[in-house]
Amino acid sequence: MSSAGIQIRDLSMTYNGKSGEPITALQNINFDIREGEFISLLGPSGCGKTTLLRIIADLLKPSSGDISILGKTPREIRLQQKYGIVFQSPVLYDWRTVRRNICMPMEIMKIPKKERTARITKMLEVVGLEDFGYKYPFELSGGMQQRVGIARALALDPDFLLMDEPFSALDEFTREKLNEDLLNIWSKDKKTVIFVTHNIPEAVFLSDRVVVLSPHPGRVSAIVDIDLPRPRKNALREEAIFYEYVAKIRKSFEGV
Ligand SMILES: Nc1ncnc2c1ncn2[C@@H]1O[C@H](COP(=O)(O)OP(=O)(O)OP(=O)(O)O)[C@@H](O)[C@H]1O
Ligand SMILES: [Mg+2]
Repeated sequence: MSSAGIQIRDLSMTYNGKSGEPITALQNINFDIREGEFISLLGPSGCGKTTLLRIIADLLKPSSGDISILGKTPREIRLQQKYGIVFQSPVLYDWRTVRRNICMPMEIMKIPKKERTARITKMLEVVGLEDFGYKYPFELSGGMQQRVGIARALALDPDFLLMDEPFSALDEFTREKLNEDLLNIWSKDKKTVIFVTHNIPEAVFLSDRVVVLSPHPGRVSAIVDIDLPRPRKNALREEAIFYEYVAKIRKSFEGV
């Protein structure tokens, strides 16, 4: 097996339902993720996107199959703090300022104070919140809170950024703005991003490739290369080629 990127082989996950009945969330998942790639996991509710992301993040053990990440197991990668994770809601601590929220993973990792301070300042700049470091989460809009979540995930300079529907609670304008901002952040150091969404245009706009999952049980039904030039700006959403990709992916859901 190659030691670059991520290889997912014959991965299956069966949960135990309430009365002990098996619920197959993922069945026989096989695909690779290249280093530095922006990949989306796209599919309808219940198709196993979060399950797959949690298995990659070593927050969940699969029932069978293997994942190799840079030649290591997900557990080794987690222990080396190579993951940054952004969830659907940013889970910020209300009693901590924005700066102290971003600081949390660095405190846990016992990074010296001087370096923490410098990194927080840099991360605030990266996500465009330079003037909000001393505010509390409740003083921020939902989009700004989500940016704090991204800054916190990036604070330890992870190799992999795992994002589970990070913008789905936001309005369309804010979502599109943050999509563009995320690409700007990503273009600076090209971390490998695994982005979960059920929004087709969002997946097309952001990704190098889209892994389309179909439900019951979750399987890979298509992998679509998004061959659109970068840098991508929101005006791209109005171009015919963009619609063509959206239509192509929508078609791959037909009959599912
Ligand atoms: N802890 C659990 N116990 C039992 N079944 C579960 C558990 N977590 C998820 N499932 C089931 O596994 C399947 C996949 O769930 P998962 O949360 O991964 O889907 P998803 O694609 O992330 O959906 P959504 O878009 O709604 O977030 C679903 O059928 C769900 O009911
Ligand atoms: Mg989910």
